[in-house]
Amino acid sequence: MADLFSSVRLGAYTLKNRLAMAPMTRSRANPDGSPTPLMAEYYAQRASLGLIFTEATQPSDIGQGAINTPGIYTDAHIENWKRVTSAVHAEGGRLFIQIMHSGRMSHPDNVIGNLQAIAPSAIAPRLQFHTADGPKDVPTPREMSLVEIRQTVADFRHAARCAIDAGADGVEIHGANGYLIQQFFAPNANARTDAYGGSIENRARLAIEVVSAVVAEIGAERNRLSHFSWRTLG
Ligand SMILES: Cc1cc2nc3c(=O)[nH]c(=O)nc-3n(C[C@H](O)[C@H](O)[C@H](O)COP(=O)(O)O)c2cc1C
Repeated sequence: MADLFSSVRLGAYTLKNRLAMAPMTRSRANPDGSPTPLMAEYYAQRASLGLIFTEATQPSDIGQGAINTPGIYTDAHIENWKRVTSAVHAEGGRLFIQIMHSGRMSHPDNVIGNLQAIAPSAIAPRLQFHTADGPKDVPTPREMSLVEIRQTVADFRHAARCAIDAGADGVEIHGANGYLIQQFFAPNANARTDAYGGSIENRARLAIEVVSAVVAEIGAERNRLSHFSWRTLG
């Protein structure tokens, strides 16, 4: 039986051990979404693990949900993520950036431009979100148009390219926990009657388009769709 501390092959990489760090939001980025020196220090401290999945990172302004989360779609994001990836690589670690679009799980107070959230349907999640002024009710999101769905797929693809340009070893696409991709899976968040709602195939369409676009951009060996429950499809 393989030892926990023995190396293992994962896609394009040989990891030095079989321990990985789960993605965990820390809300330590600058207001423009650029990673801070504290983030480089934090991830470098954990680089003895075989693989680090970073905290959820938005692919666009509208993809942000929580306060001070990092982005991976501007030149400033790339330059500052380079400090994180090089700090981890200097310690012999590997790092995948987790790309997450929050969809309706978002408060305008936390988002650049105070944008109204977009989601499969205009259905509020009926919960509160932490903001700089404390917890607030999450407002009802706006239903995404087909153009916005296409733009979202393009944003994931662009973010994956930016992650690789920033020195990340790969990306994880967040498909779980009630955020945008999972909102499309879930009948209680997705009431669409077009090609993205109704049947299981239709509700899975966005996830498949996002994964296909990311694979086309950076290759199949450098990306992974995070844990999600097919139960939410049935
Ligand atoms: C503080 C905190 C922040 C988290 N942020 C994220 C996140 O950004 N992305 C994500 O996919 N999961 C996030 N999670 C979920 C964890 O990655 C993990 O799936 C969860 O803690 C369950 O782990 P377990 O199955 O080992 O118990 C977060 C969890 C915690 C405790």
